[in-house]
Amino acid sequence: MNVFINKNIPEAGIALLQEKGIQFTLNPTENVLSRAELIKFCQQHDALLNVGSNNLDEDFFNQCPNLKGIALFSVGFDSVNMESATKRNIPVGNTPDVLSRATSDVAFLLMQSVARKSFFNHKRIINGDWGSFNALANLGQELYGKTLGIFGLGRIGFEMAQKCKAAFGMNIIYHNRSQNENAEKELDAAYVDFETLLSQSDVLSIHSNYSEENNELFNKNAFAKMKRNSIFINTARGKFHNENDLFDALTNDIIWGAGLDVTNPEPMKPDNPLLSLSNCCILPHIGSATYEARNGMAVCAAQNIIALFENKKMPFCVNE
Ligand code: DGY
Repeated sequence: MNVFINKNIPEAGIALLQEKGIQFTLNPTENVLSRAELIKFCQQHDALLNVGSNNLDEDFFNQCPNLKGIALFSVGFDSVNMESATKRNIPVGNTPDVLSRATSDVAFLLMQSVARKSFFNHKRIINGDWGSFNALANLGQELYGKTLGIFGLGRIGFEMAQKCKAAFGMNIIYHNRSQNENAEKELDAAYVDFETLLSQSDVLSIHSNYSEENNELFNKNAFAKMKRNSIFINTARGKFHNENDLFDALTNDIIWGAGLDVTNPEPMKPDNPLLSLSNCCILPHIGSATYEARNGMAVCAAQNIIALFENKKMPFCVNE
């Protein structure tokens, strides 16, 4: 058995594979592989440790009949057609928990950055536009006692809610597939329907796993139902929001601001009109980009591969 790793991962994961004597091939080019190149490597290996958002769809699985397992270097698993993997008995593993703190930190950072227009003000200095003190300009808003709405209260959403409660005493409401009793007890959070989440949130933050049914759920209709002073935060997947509708909402005073760590497509083009707005902060998908989280992800991915090679259930399997 041997595994193909399509991009380098932190040493902690590589060392674990070596310690267990797992044979692996690391993408020898250091470049992003084309789909055809990735498929070629996967045809010659038993498993894939996948870094990045390659589209692992039915066609991919058809072309890689020898593949026995996939370890994702991510918590999100929307890049894999799970039906295709499952019907072939191919386990797919992800990297939960280890990045919850880092990703929720970025959601919190974006929330504050939007509330206080930090990116825009930084740009003003660079552009020589600091100017003299103006009591009426560059005003942000304070978040104390406001309502945080979480769409998808799992591990990352829980940590975001905890931080907002501790820092600003925010009230927590959430919308989920099912109620989260633990969160209700620990955070005094209230489950609400989607419409109420839209209409009551001062900050609305997405922390759900993406699936087709939620494609562009946050669109013109949704933004129209949100408060005019509300802040929209997306650190989950860019496909959750419609970018043109978000631009309209931000420029027509429908919502107050937005913070995005994810866009659709990624990377975002530098001339994207959202980047010119004073009420929008955008980061290049760095939610899990800390030494701690990335080391943890490397270890989880390696543990999934090791279990596969030892004929055991992957510890972080999402389709078994
Ligand atoms: C994840 O782990 O899903 C992050 O978004 C990085 O892809």
